[in-house]
Amino acid sequence: MKLVIAGDHASPALKRALVHHLRGRGHQVEDLGTDGESSVDYPDYAALACRAVLDGQAERAVLICGTGIGIGIAANKIPGIRCGIAHSVDTGRLAWEHNRAQVLAIGARVLDSRTATAVVDAWLDAKADEGPRHQNRIAKIAALENPACSTASKPC
Ligand code: RB5
Repeated sequence: MKLVIAGDHASPALKRALVHHLRGRGHQVEDLGTDGESSVDYPDYAALACRAVLDGQAERAVLICGTGIGIGIAANKIPGIRCGIAHSVDTGRLAWEHNRAQVLAIGARVLDSRTATAVVDAWLDAKADEGPRHQNRIAKIAALENPACSTASKPC
């Protein structure tokens, strides 16, 4: 699979380990930075990686910050992106199975590299649940990008 990976200054060591692991599994992985310990802003890296997915340069993106939360929130602001914030093998798997999250955010300060690797593998190996309830919910998530739906008093 074609992947991009990006993160803030909390990410470089974990990002390098993941790039090595994922390439070893045969994935094509582009590392979009950051590479150093100097403080950077995670929304910038969320935008960079999500843009690559939306432009079709990559099928999926892995995002890393200290907790996975900030970069995940930022990614979910970008129309068309569903970003799962995962901290276990189960949440990684379900982010694809139920939510078809094409972006996964993880926390370098809350997961060791072995767990983070297992979480990302579970997400990449999962099979989407084609059940109509999930399709319907994903369509409703997309509808919320329309202000007429997100501000409506009843579900669109
Ligand atoms: C940066 O210090 C830290 O706030 C960031 O990596 C992340 O954890 C935010 O959610």
